[in-house]
Amino acid sequence: MTQDEMKKAVAEAAVDRIRGQLRADSIVGVGTGSTANCFIDALAGIRQLFDGAVASSEATAERLRGHGIPVYDLNAVPGLDLYVDGADEFDAGLNLVKGGGGALTREKIVAAAAKEFICIVDTSKRVEVLGRFPLPVEVIPMARSLVARQLVKLGGQPELREGFVTDNGNLILDVYNLEIRDPKVLEAELNNIVGVVTNGLFARRGADVVLMGTPDGVETLLP
Ligand code: A5P
Repeated sequence: MTQDEMKKAVAEAAVDRIRGQLRADSIVGVGTGSTANCFIDALAGIRQLFDGAVASSEATAERLRGHGIPVYDLNAVPGLDLYVDGADEFDAGLNLVKGGGGALTREKIVAAAAKEFICIVDTSKRVEVLGRFPLPVEVIPMARSLVARQLVKLGGQPELREGFVTDNGNLILDVYNLEIRDPKVLEAELNNIVGVVTNGLFARRGADVVLMGTPDGVETLLP
């Protein structure tokens, strides 16, 4: 099975998993990235079972609308039962690194609003210790250098994501070689740096379940 086929299989497994939970007034939180795109395409097949979606990025909103799925502002909905999104890395505790697509802040907001976070990945995303993938940090533009110096003090090597502006008008520093021994502690520490909007560690609110596409089928992983 190719990686694309695993992404498609895991997206279809997520739709099968949530199908029974959906009601006519359900709003589904939807993530960003190539795996989330497969989920959106599969979700379109059960369009009649739910009301609409909250999107974690402009790209996702556009794809949802393209399928005729209404997109709601998070402020206009009382809460979300479900959030489905991909990840760049996950560990055995279902702590995640996200933000490879630059949508980390809205992803973290939608994840925080949802009762259940279902993460959909293929086998390439599983790691023993988080940090192989450079950790994305969204920063306010005027604080870019200030934040970068703090990240160096923490042992990381920040690199500006060239030519990229987030949906929120900010910049991304991709931080290489951070030792992520305690994801929850580092997540909080990074958020405390003045000028940081958010960082790509999803540990304080990690996934509730990971569906992992493998060459032999989809595995369900719990923390
Ligand atoms: C988007 O900002 C990310 O958090 C994505 O969820 C992550 O990069 C996974 O993307 P793929 O499914 O394309 O690998």
